[in-house]
Amino acid sequence: MKISIIGTGYVGLVTGVCLAKKGHNVICVDRVESIINSINSGIAPIFEKHLEDLLLEVIRDKLTATSDVGYAVENSEVSIIAVGTPFSEGNIDLKNVKEAAYDIGVILKKKKDYHVVCVKSTVIPTTTDTMILKTLEEASGKKLGEFGLVMNPEFLREGNAVEDFMNPDRIIIGAMDDKSFEVFSKIYKSHFDAPIVKTNSRTAEMIKYTSNALLAALISFSNEIAAISEEIGDTDALEVLEGVHMDRRLSLIVEGKITMPGIIKYLKPSRGFGGSCFPKDVKSLIAFSEKLGYKPKILKSVIEVNESQIERLVLKLKDEIGEIRDKTIAILGLAFKAGTDDIRESQSIKLIRRLIKEGAVLKCYDPIAIENAKKELEEQANLEFYSNYENTLLNADAALIMTDWDTIANISIDVFKKLMKNPVIIDGCRILIKNNIKEQKTKYRGIGLRMIEK
Ligand code: UDX
Repeated sequence: MKISIIGTGYVGLVTGVCLAKKGHNVICVDRVESIINSINSGIAPIFEKHLEDLLLEVIRDKLTATSDVGYAVENSEVSIIAVGTPFSEGNIDLKNVKEAAYDIGVILKKKKDYHVVCVKSTVIPTTTDTMILKTLEEASGKKLGEFGLVMNPEFLREGNAVEDFMNPDRIIIGAMDDKSFEVFSKIYKSHFDAPIVKTNSRTAEMIKYTSNALLAALISFSNEIAAISEEIGDTDALEVLEGVHMDRRLSLIVEGKITMPGIIKYLKPSRGFGGSCFPKDVKSLIAFSEKLGYKPKILKSVIEVNESQIERLVLKLKDEIGEIRDKTIAILGLAFKAGTDDIRESQSIKLIRRLIKEGAVLKCYDPIAIENAKKELEEQANLEFYSNYENTLLNADAALIMTDWDTIANISIDVFKKLMKNPVIIDGCRILIKNNIKEQKTKYRGIGLRMIEK
């Protein structure tokens, strides 16, 4: 099929490159010339595993980038809106989505062939069948039926986005009518081996929010169990939750062997969630629900527990080293999770801001997110960045693990002991092997674990 994609961020570009790889002809549209030039030269403007390799395979033959929306819509059968929905003042800003719909509508006015518009950006339920439909109808002077409209949410994890797109677990298509569904689903039919769920647009929008809200809730649930386990002492929440994972209703027993579904990963104590999706999606769902007249209780607690994780880390640090002012603290990991250079809503960045206020001297390590972190944090004398963990740990009074990178998980306890002034390790990701930590004469505090001196 001939497909145009408006917006070349994580979602738009991954979608475009993967659909091109599946044999479709894709035109990517963006307003920013440098992004277009980069894509057309086969250089991925964002860091995402496998993206650039695939881009090089499809560029020119199957995928091109342009700033000309008119050209892209005229030369395609389907337009996918994948622009950003920034979060401001407790709500997502739908301005970009509306503008993209308007731009497409203007071209549809002149276009004779049937064209389907797809909303892929995460939008609050009812957006597609109210605001987007109205904008398209006004800009095109046509009625639904003369063009098609669907909502097709993405479920792409940063760092795994290409694999997730190529091997989806489900394809949700919220269609405004049967014809929109029939035409749009051709993109996926016979190209992808996953169930296609046909529903209406608001259900599709709600499926996306509910998926992320559930995963975020599992993390906050785990962190509440972690907090209680810390109060008990000598009770490791990691082991508690591993014991819970083994329930056959969570981990199926197949041919006598226990399976560990991906969702189990979210039932784990941690420094809390970040990224461009979970915090924004849960907060938007709360705000939207309140507008409708229902005050969510669980969702509010999900955010509250997550936000309190930073304070809990600071308390652990104070417990171990006392006054924070002028102490040298090593921060291991800046990205919101391993596998990405993205620092949006990263718990690590929030912790850094908090420790700067306390007067700490910070040495920060990340394998790939340093440039983004430098852009985010103002330059200051007591904040330094290192691309190797050895220099970061040198002479530190304490180390806090904030991103689950393998390079960090593989640091041996001996290295911490050799390089640090004082081997206090606070593991916000529970990635260090905790065996023999006590015997190793290291002060180790993991989220969900407070050992009692006997
Ligand atoms: C998420 C969803 O997984 C994806 O389906 C959706 O479409 C977009 O949002 P992403 O934000 O890339 O993807 O990250 P994900 O891997 O789900 O992790 C989100 C956050 O939760 C990260 O900060 C991660 O470190 C944190 N997390 C994850 C935990 O704190 N503990 C865990 O056990 C798992």
